[in-house]
Amino acid sequence: MSSLFLVYLFLLPFFCHSLPLCRNACGNIQIDYPFAIDDGCGAPLYRNMLNCSAAFVPLSTNATSSNRDLTTPSATDLFFQTPSGSYKVESIDYSSKTLTIYDPSMSTCTILQPHHDFVLSDVQSALIPPSPDTVFALMNCSIDSPVLNHYKNLCFNLSSDHSCDELYGSCTSFKIFQMLANDTPPACCFTSYSTVKFMSMNILDCTHYTTFYDADKLKGEKPLDWSYGIKLSYGLPDTGCDRCRRSGGACGFDVETEGTVCICSATVNSTRECGAGTVAGGIGEGHGGLLLPSLLLHLFTILFTCIFL
Ligand SMILES: *[C@@H]1O[C@H](CO)[C@@H](O)[C@H](O)[C@H]1NC(C)=O
Ligand SMILES: *[C@@H]1O[C@H](CO)[C@@H](O)[C@H](O)[C@H]1NC(C)=O
Ligand SMILES: *[C@@H]1O[C@H](CO)[C@@H](O)[C@H](O)[C@H]1NC(C)=O
Ligand SMILES: *[C@@H]1O[C@H](CO)[C@@H](O)[C@H](O)[C@H]1NC(C)=O
Ligand SMILES: *[C@@H]1O[C@H](CO)[C@@H](O)[C@H](O)[C@H]1NC(C)=O
Repeated sequence: MSSLFLVYLFLLPFFCHSLPLCRNACGNIQIDYPFAIDDGCGAPLYRNMLNCSAAFVPLSTNATSSNRDLTTPSATDLFFQTPSGSYKVESIDYSSKTLTIYDPSMSTCTILQPHHDFVLSDVQSALIPPSPDTVFALMNCSIDSPVLNHYKNLCFNLSSDHSCDELYGSCTSFKIFQMLANDTPPACCFTSYSTVKFMSMNILDCTHYTTFYDADKLKGEKPLDWSYGIKLSYGLPDTGCDRCRRSGGACGFDVETEGTVCICSATVNSTRECGAGTVAGGIGEGHGGLLLPSLLLHLFTILFTCIFL
């Protein structure tokens, strides 16, 4: 019996370290199906889209021993990965199925930065595209820009009380366009994601752009108060995840075959749901009967040792 105990001691680090298989938060953002930050968790279509990283916060040189919280070396941030870069996730709203991201290299009402194309993969464009109330404002477009000529119908009026002139006139960062213009300020265009999806910023021939969301709630709001960023709207694949979750499992998939699995514990995966309260029932339907009772006993021992360690 003591030799068996030694075996457990050797196995413990392997089993116990892999216990939190699917982390359910990154910083203060809740991570839930279909998203995941651990491979094999969440929905396979959303694989590798999110990344939870420690973003290093520059230490304040003014920090003193009396001001300890300034010396925190890092903060954990969630990033949405696309072919054009990593975008910081500001929030995920699971009830409205939206995720808002922010591109730190884009221009806003207060910062002017050179354009940087926003590119989604084909899968992302289909699964999690920008919501209809996310507006791309293309600015300082040349007179040859397609959106001023052949494709001018791709530009729309935001609402009766918002215009490009307002953006140029009331944002400290965009005032320069008016200042440099001799007579009329350069054109701008409020458009949707589909325009920038099919034409890069170089083809559009506009030097700057910004994005904002909740465009239908901007009536009477000054551009300084708009919500800058991109709101993505996602679909939820129906793979029976609810059933797995109700049984206490976490929805995931096999990293090789991408077939869905219900993760019940570090050592037990099931095809659909976890057994009611017992580990044994959690083993995939059709496999449960093949396991020897003694093996189950060992599994129990390992699990219990993990829990009580
Ligand atoms: C269960 O599934 C997860 C995700 O694919 C995987 O990481 C883990 O190794 C699996 N566990 C077992 C015991 O098969
Ligand atoms: C400390 O902060 C003040 C104002 O916040 C700034 O003027 C000063 O340069 C800072 N000192 C250092 C060493 O960074
Ligand atoms: C996660 O995102 C950060 C921030 O952009 C990036 O530096 C890092 O390489 C990414 N990690 C992975 C595993 O993709
Ligand atoms: C506006 O666009 C023109 C080219 O169309 C460019 O020469 C000029 O530098 C741009 N203005 C700013 C402020 O970037
Ligand atoms: C957009 O606004 C401009 C100026 O206010 C106006 O001339 C134009 O007719 C409007 N276009 C549409 C489609 O409403």
